[in-house]
Amino acid sequence: MKLSLLGSAALFLLHTLSLVHESAAANDGKPNILFIFTDDQDARLNSIDYMPNLQKHLVKQGTLHRNHYATIAICCPSRVSLLRGQYAHNTNITDVSPPYGGYSRFNKLGLGESTLPIWLQEAGYHTNYIGKLMNEYSVNNYNNPTPKGFDYQDQLVDPYTYVYNKPVFSKDGESPVFYKNAYQTDVIHAKALQALKNQRNSDKPFFLWVAPMAPHGQFSFQNGVMKTEPPVPAARHAHLFKDVKIARTPNFNPKKQTKTASFWKGLSHLNNTLVDQFDEIHRNRLRALQAVDEMIGTLFDELQHQGKLDNTYVIYSADNGYHLGQHRAYPGKCGNIEEDINVPFIVRGPGIPKGKVSDIVSAHHDLAPTFLALAKGSQHVPDWVDGGVIPLTHDLQKHPKTVAKESFAVEFWMQDAMPEFYPEVKAEGPNTYKTLRVISKDYNYMYSVWCTGEHEFYDLKNDPYETINKYHHIDEQLLNRLDALLLVLKSCRAENCRDPWRILHPHDPSVKTLADALHHKFDQHYSQYKHVSFSECLPYISVFNEQPVIGHHFKANSTTLATTNLTTDINKSEKVLQKLLRSSITIPSTSYQEDDDEYIKNVIRLHQMIPDPDDEDSVGLERLSEDFEKDAIPVPEELVTSQIDWVKHGFYNAFGN
Ligand SMILES: *[C@@H]1O[C@H](CO)[C@@H](O)[C@H](O)[C@H]1NC(C)=O
Ligand SMILES: *[C@@H]1O[C@H](CO)[C@@H](O)[C@H](O)[C@H]1NC(C)=O
Ligand SMILES: *[C@@H]1O[C@H](CO)[C@@H](O)[C@H](O)[C@H]1NC(C)=O
Ligand SMILES: *[C@@H]1O[C@H](CO)[C@@H](O)[C@H](O)[C@H]1NC(C)=O
Ligand SMILES: *[C@@H]1O[C@H](CO)[C@@H](O)[C@H](O)[C@H]1NC(C)=O
Repeated sequence: MKLSLLGSAALFLLHTLSLVHESAAANDGKPNILFIFTDDQDARLNSIDYMPNLQKHLVKQGTLHRNHYATIAICCPSRVSLLRGQYAHNTNITDVSPPYGGYSRFNKLGLGESTLPIWLQEAGYHTNYIGKLMNEYSVNNYNNPTPKGFDYQDQLVDPYTYVYNKPVFSKDGESPVFYKNAYQTDVIHAKALQALKNQRNSDKPFFLWVAPMAPHGQFSFQNGVMKTEPPVPAARHAHLFKDVKIARTPNFNPKKQTKTASFWKGLSHLNNTLVDQFDEIHRNRLRALQAVDEMIGTLFDELQHQGKLDNTYVIYSADNGYHLGQHRAYPGKCGNIEEDINVPFIVRGPGIPKGKVSDIVSAHHDLAPTFLALAKGSQHVPDWVDGGVIPLTHDLQKHPKTVAKESFAVEFWMQDAMPEFYPEVKAEGPNTYKTLRVISKDYNYMYSVWCTGEHEFYDLKNDPYETINKYHHIDEQLLNRLDALLLVLKSCRAENCRDPWRILHPHDPSVKTLADALHHKFDQHYSQYKHVSFSECLPYISVFNEQPVIGHHFKANSTTLATTNLTTDINKSEKVLQKLLRSSITIPSTSYQEDDDEYIKNVIRLHQMIPDPDDEDSVGLERLSEDFEKDAIPVPEELVTSQIDWVKHGFYNAFGN
């Protein structure tokens, strides 16, 4: 009897083992990928230090990459850059809302037809997305079209995306539902856990992208007026971190202004009242991240339970960074400063060193090719992709398309500041610039050309907080190289982005880094290139406006070439642009008049169709139960069918996203 029991236990064990073996075989050895992606989370204000599960499961068991960047520090452009593996100058998504950004433009440009999740599907993956996808995905256009590439998707919809205590989601293109009295991150947490559980018996490798909106600020729409407010923590976390303050780094609210470009230089020294407010915003960001951290703990437990931890890459990052008082700036992003562009990037999984810090330089457009390389599906990455494979593991180091070695461009196109929480604050200059970052163990440079003609040069190796603009002390030898590299990276496509030096040294493959190019024997060579400059400050891409471009970069012959070819280009691009401008505005502007009382009342009524929680202060006192989906309430049909252009009511354009 005893023997046979043992026997059946052994048999059961054998059976289980063979199941594990079979599913590994069906996976074709492909790892799962869990990608956790927050909104507006800094790498420079120490927010990840306050996330114990992230520390325990990711930082200690994986590699922290401290040189990972967003190349455009704002939501929609950065997310599209990641989805497509391209710089924003190649996606043409440069803003959060129409006409230059948003979900409708993303579709009009056809960008949704070829993206990271689609390539992963082609590589045999079951793909999932939960949380915030991109701006302007709303109760009106959630299925027009339904985002492509996801076997399961459950996305936040506008105009409620930025309301912590009114979670509204559309699942797989179905009519939206909401969860009353629930905390948004907790709903994402519960949905992500369910999505993982659904993989328990699957023999396909999975890709699960979880995108909480935290720690983004909150939008509140009251009496037809839009306001932004600091993030709202779950009630159970509201009391935390009472003594925490923003680190008083040398660039925090400096006595003498540190940034010199027009956009920055008029900012006044912040008084104590403001500094106290910023500290409280910082604490609320950390509090809002606690619910994300709890989710990380749960997802790791579930992976462990399924025995999949050793065959899963878990990656953590954020769409862009954040600043709070650095260089006297009011809360927000959009800048070219480290606080805005440097983002958390932590990776754990097979072949990833544990507890290490890496200095590899990489950007968001590298993530899609990197994920596909981990998924053994690089053949599905189109040739036009700008990004390369980040050498995370020994295997990936041998990949034929690796990342650009040490440099990337950072770009922005905007007429004005996007002040969060302080709408009265205005910048003195426009926020359109081209920035070059070059990072190696020997040097760390930030070089910037503004549409106003102003320049910045910071030597971050000696001045890590960007406090001294040394542009007027930079020698020509270095400046020529930086300008040449910037011109290539700001107009590069595909291979040119990964290896910009081939444009500058087509016949000399030995030049691979700035150090190589700096040799005096190339002084004459670099004197022949034009320098980057703008004709005027525009809030959108115009090839003509941003000179020179690759192919027209020689002083000697660029003039003639530029006039013929660029005129053709500008005619083409202006036509495309004009057409877009006309088509992306779906609501005739005449339908909205500010003095039209009835109209505004109707908008407010529609917005209120998702009711406030019964008690704001108790939302998120406890986490959701596993059967939370039974509490989903369909959104009233009238809200879905009434085509309100929420953008016109201050969603996005006046505020940061
Ligand atoms: C602090 O500065 C803000 C913005 O300039 C101003 O509105 C406020 O009155 C100041 N507070 C004090 C106490 O000076
Ligand atoms: C433009 O000038 C550069 C440098 O003088 C030269 O190498 C290149 O061949 C010229 N291109 C054309 C099309 O004339
Ligand atoms: C520039 O225009 C000329 C004449 O139309 C054409 O032959 C040439 O290929 C173009 N060069 C580029 C780089 O587009
Ligand atoms: C650009 O467009 C203008 C007006 O449509 C036209 O007159 C001009 O010939 C065009 N130029 C080129 C190079 O196509
Ligand atoms: C961006 O727009 C330009 C013209 O404005 C066009 O040549 C280019 O193909 C567009 N890029 C994408 C990815 O649609």
